[in-house]
Amino acid sequence: MVNLNEYATEKVTEKVLALVGEIPTFPRAVSHLMKQLKDPDTSLEDICATISGDPGLCVLVLRLANSPLYRPGFSNPTTLSIPRAVQMLGRKIIESAVLSYALRGMLRRSSLAEKLLWEHALACAVIASDIVRLIGSKNVETAYVCGLLHDVGKTVMCLRFPETMHAILEDQYNQSQGEDAAICSVAMEKEHLGIDHARVGAVCLNVWQCGEEAAVACAYHHRPKDVQGRSVWPGVIRIADILCHKMEYGPICRPMLNLGPVERALRINGAEMAQCLERWRAKIEETFQAFA
Ligand SMILES: [Fe+2]
Ligand SMILES: [Fe+2]
Repeated sequence: MVNLNEYATEKVTEKVLALVGEIPTFPRAVSHLMKQLKDPDTSLEDICATISGDPGLCVLVLRLANSPLYRPGFSNPTTLSIPRAVQMLGRKIIESAVLSYALRGMLRRSSLAEKLLWEHALACAVIASDIVRLIGSKNVETAYVCGLLHDVGKTVMCLRFPETMHAILEDQYNQSQGEDAAICSVAMEKEHLGIDHARVGAVCLNVWQCGEEAAVACAYHHRPKDVQGRSVWPGVIRIADILCHKMEYGPICRPMLNLGPVERALRINGAEMAQCLERWRAKIEETFQAFA
């Protein structure tokens, strides 16, 4: 039986590094804040001091605390202090927001392909966190992080091999009416670059210490059956990924896709699925606004 987080070993990391060169690092304030958020002994004052020292993080936290996403029923933004905003959002939400901020920082939004990757990441995060709620799990923030980061390998590969990756993403976009375009993307990457985004992403997530769930979800999101019964996250992300294709968020758009298998997996009927799609679209658009 393979080690569930096989991409955490030094040998695999070295192999991936040999192919992609270096792995990008998070900005200092982000890495420091991530460590503080994970440490239960860090005080709220210290967390606020780190956020206050980075203008981008300040804007992010204040904007989220004022967003209808986290303040349902409040239509007018109110000026909040950083400590009040941090208290209101809580550590888990700030952690996933900071990861979104770090991911956005790696993507060049002037590039259409990378803008689509950003939208796909946020949409998959929103859908994955709602799917776990549907199936009665409380791990909403873990689902969000797994969804957000499942294709981070594509982002890293865009940084290292921009021309080849943009050509692959463009091909994917044009051919996405095909049978299983997502599986095909892994094959295309392997053929042209000798490695695929699931492996690159899993190694990066281990290096960045984003948690085993996110690394395993990333490594297996194109082959969830390989870890069936041992981790739910690759399966949840696979479903969220398919729903993103159906809803046309990202480089793969398959609006005609039959959602019957997804409805059966989630144990909902067609009418309930239609409601879910509507709810997800509204939440995804709000999330785009919050991170605009
Ligand atoms: Fe993927
Ligand atoms: Fe994806």
